[in-house]
Amino acid sequence: MKILVTGGAGFIGSHTLVELLEQGNEVVVMDNFINSKEESLRRVKKITGKDFRFYQADMLDTAALDKIFEENEIEAVVHFAGLKAVGESCDQPIRYYTNNITGTLKLIDSMSRHGVKKIVFSSSATVYGQPKEVPIREDFPLKTSNPYGETKLMTERILSDVVKADPEWSVVILRYFNPIGAHSSGLIGEDPKGIPNNLFPYITQVGSGKLQRLRVFGDDYPTPDGTGVRDYIHVVDLAQAHLKALEYSAKSQGIEYFNIGTGKGYSVLEMVKAYEAITGKTIAYEVVDRRPGDIAECYADPAKAQKVLGWSAKYGIEEMCRDADRWQTMNPEGYKDEH
Ligand code: UFG
Repeated sequence: MKILVTGGAGFIGSHTLVELLEQGNEVVVMDNFINSKEESLRRVKKITGKDFRFYQADMLDTAALDKIFEENEIEAVVHFAGLKAVGESCDQPIRYYTNNITGTLKLIDSMSRHGVKKIVFSSSATVYGQPKEVPIREDFPLKTSNPYGETKLMTERILSDVVKADPEWSVVILRYFNPIGAHSSGLIGEDPKGIPNNLFPYITQVGSGKLQRLRVFGDDYPTPDGTGVRDYIHVVDLAQAHLKALEYSAKSQGIEYFNIGTGKGYSVLEMVKAYEAITGKTIAYEVVDRRPGDIAECYADPAKAQKVLGWSAKYGIEEMCRDADRWQTMNPEGYKDEH
């Protein structure tokens, strides 16, 4: 299959490229490098020994999108491109709505004009807001509390309307839980800009000595040890879910939503302990106030993805810690700007 991957240089995008190429798919990649580096694409080529066409382009650029569809016989799109920091989205809502919503509308419009009607979209467990219970099922009520989350939920609704208007479309919405880990080669991984917002890159940077101390955001949640519980999923498992989603979209029409998580929740302190046990490193931490907007517990019921897509997570917390640590150790400054 010939697949357009938007945001292919990012954390999840680059890992998905590796899986797609290793399975013999032809890919065309588009990225504007706002939150990613070209080096990640060179590393994908190194891991796979395969080449692909790349366009440095922004989704807001209709002419650039049209050119990609005109120059390539694209059959399906895997759409990762988007801004993703919750806090930043509260400070810069217009930028988030413009990039994530207007950008996606332009992408869908260009797809439509070129007869491409299959898309796999990166959504997030954030669309469930504060869930009424855990594990979370796909049919739970949807509600978001920040502009980033709104853009994910709005995009889901836009795609649902696109399918209603033209039932030939095939849309697969993947709602990611908390992706961590890295490719086992240590060549690609998560490369956050500046100080990480998310727990795991923060832990690995404390482990490597780059950061001094983890701040644990609250230990008074109604969870076994009082710290927040999340469903951490190995990024390679997540990448493989996209291949299953593409297989599914090739033989289906309409729209389907899937939770992509392991179904197991780990607390912040359990993650710290697991990382220490697996790497032998010590993570200094202090407990501080809760982070506004955080919820106590969030983990998936992944049964639907297993049943319908034939996908389930293969890797556990050990591989997640080991692979993230290998990436951090081999790339203490991330991708830098190697040429
Ligand atoms: N945490 C800390 N210290 C930190 C960072 C995080 O204690 O420095 C805690 C949080 O309070 C939370 C857990 O670690 O309990 C996980 O936090 P992350 O920031 O790693 O992940 P979130 O679950 O908050 O956010 C993730 C994605 C978002 C998505 C959200 C909801 O990053 O894109 O899940 O699904 F919106």
